[in-house]
Amino acid sequence: MKEKTSLASKVIHAGTQPPTQGHSFNQPPVFASAFHLSGDPANSTYQYGRFNNPTWQSLEDAISELENAPSVIFPSGMAAIASVLTSILSPGDTLVLPTDGYAPTRAYAEQFLKKFGVNLILTKTLKIPDLDFTGIKLVLIESPSNPLLDVLDISLLADKIHQKGGLLAVDNTCLTPLGQQPLALGADISVCSDTKAFNGHSDILFGHVASASEKIIDGIRNWRTLSGNIPGPMETWLVHRALASLDLRLERMTSNAQALAQYLSTHPKVKWIRYPGLKNDPSYKIAKQQMNNFGYLMSFELNSLEAAENFLKGCQLIFDATSFGGMHTMAERRKRWNADDIPEATIRLSAGCEKQEDLLSDISSTLDRL
Ligand SMILES: Cc1ncc(COP(=O)(O)O)c(C=O)c1O
Repeated sequence: MKEKTSLASKVIHAGTQPPTQGHSFNQPPVFASAFHLSGDPANSTYQYGRFNNPTWQSLEDAISELENAPSVIFPSGMAAIASVLTSILSPGDTLVLPTDGYAPTRAYAEQFLKKFGVNLILTKTLKIPDLDFTGIKLVLIESPSNPLLDVLDISLLADKIHQKGGLLAVDNTCLTPLGQQPLALGADISVCSDTKAFNGHSDILFGHVASASEKIIDGIRNWRTLSGNIPGPMETWLVHRALASLDLRLERMTSNAQALAQYLSTHPKVKWIRYPGLKNDPSYKIAKQQMNNFGYLMSFELNSLEAAENFLKGCQLIFDATSFGGMHTMAERRKRWNADDIPEATIRLSAGCEKQEDLLSDISSTLDRL
């Protein structure tokens, strides 16, 4: 596709085959463990179902167009993250992770990497740029962080890390490649849980990694092949199908989020709110500079744990769930997992694709009843 084509259009066409007379518009999923393979295996793209699959290839082509770099798909975001950490780090290497990011990433490092001799530095997202990166092999950040939506200057951080010979990976789950391009900003690796907005229908777990470095991508693909962390062709096909509507969905989700955040920011029953699209939010300036939109996620605190629980029970259009990025507006009291350093009454809300007036009216009438 032409270089100048916007991501919004690319997302609809990416990874599809050029039209041929009489052939279906959509490629069907290929369910195969074995492919006919005679003679030298190097002469065939497809050899065995754990190595590659045409349905994977189509989606990887699509993702590579969006990330502008080679990509590898995985059956979940955690598998994608594990592939990055496990294939890059060796005994004696040092990894930096945020204390205020997705907790299972830290748990994976604590429980599986430390015992193989990887050193771990845990620091708050906003403190990461102040570290001395000497001797650090890999820094994995989330920007915006989740659930408090702090945003780091990715280009600046990448420069600092590269000066000391390290690598920067960005977990881009909250925004997807349409909302932010970590590689173009200077990161070495972009990793995404496609379970969230990328697929967006709350029905599939999925993930991907992209990197312009052939060495990194080869290592990641090799880890997938040898660990057997492979996606099923049906899930892959469904994620590719959902991808075509990503820009449309994000447009509605982000405009809903902006309206809800503005409403909540002036409500007397809301103690504070974090949303990068609010002009007085600490993330606003850098978010405006490096993100293509302000996202659909926000966090806010109500007056008490009871108020937060009643809010979640009372809203009819909000699905109480520990996920985000779907077409349904979703929210949860994050502290119920006891993994984040946040007040008990903090709610993380992911704006969906419902009609804006309906969401505003549901939320305002529920807040009135608290
Ligand atoms: C920021 C972030 N990264 C990674 C993951 C893991 O993704 P998955 O649940 O697809 O394994 C999640 C899941 O919530 C997440 O929020």
